[in-house]
Amino acid sequence: MKRSEINRLIEDALGFMGNHQFCLPPFAHWSPETWRKKGPEAQEIVETNLGWDITDFGSGDYEHIGLFLFTMRNGHPSNWSTMSGKLYAEKIMVVGVGQVTPMHFHWQKSEDIINRGGGKLMIQLYNATADEDLDDSPVIVSVDGVLRTVAAGEVLALSPGESVTLPTRLYHKFWGAESRVLVGEVSMVNDDARDNRFYDPVGRFPEIEEDASPFRLLVTDYQDFYQPDAEVVDG
Ligand SMILES: [Fe+2]
Repeated sequence: MKRSEINRLIEDALGFMGNHQFCLPPFAHWSPETWRKKGPEAQEIVETNLGWDITDFGSGDYEHIGLFLFTMRNGHPSNWSTMSGKLYAEKIMVVGVGQVTPMHFHWQKSEDIINRGGGKLMIQLYNATADEDLDDSPVIVSVDGVLRTVAAGEVLALSPGESVTLPTRLYHKFWGAESRVLVGEVSMVNDDARDNRFYDPVGRFPEIEEDASPFRLLVTDYQDFYQPDAEVVDG
């Protein structure tokens, strides 16, 4: 993806979230220059991958296969071994009409996916077989505390305010319908490095063509701009 396109998508998402009166934490608005001045106090943001995150899942076709995310809170996966610290995560996402997040499940993370406004969120569901294929058994899910049974591969339509609880090993694929959707996620710790099982292998983070300077950093940019221990050299 081109950096200029990523910049445009972030500015556009800020406008969309603003229209829905969804306010982001202060670090969402830090410029790359601000990031360069941050010290160890900002370490949690970097270590738990909070912030802007855009993916085209390696498709090269973001409009049709892609997802725009901002992670507001997350714990470190090692917290599970100590059962301390944050064991939870929260994200806000922007999902376009017909813009697909491909079929996947999580081994560790259960998550609530919430329609926070806009159009309808369409979610296709399959149980996983023991060897991680798509099962043809009916799927039982909790939709806002009410159990629903749907056929394998059936598509659930969530209107604004509605949410579904996706347990571990439940395959899900989603996209927007009618108009763009503001989507929330409240979940257990999010670990993109180890906990995503995509049915068809995909790329998680895009290759970026640097045709402009970044407006805001993506989580994958922190390593280039955030060096809290770097020695300051007077010039
Ligand atoms: Fe998921």
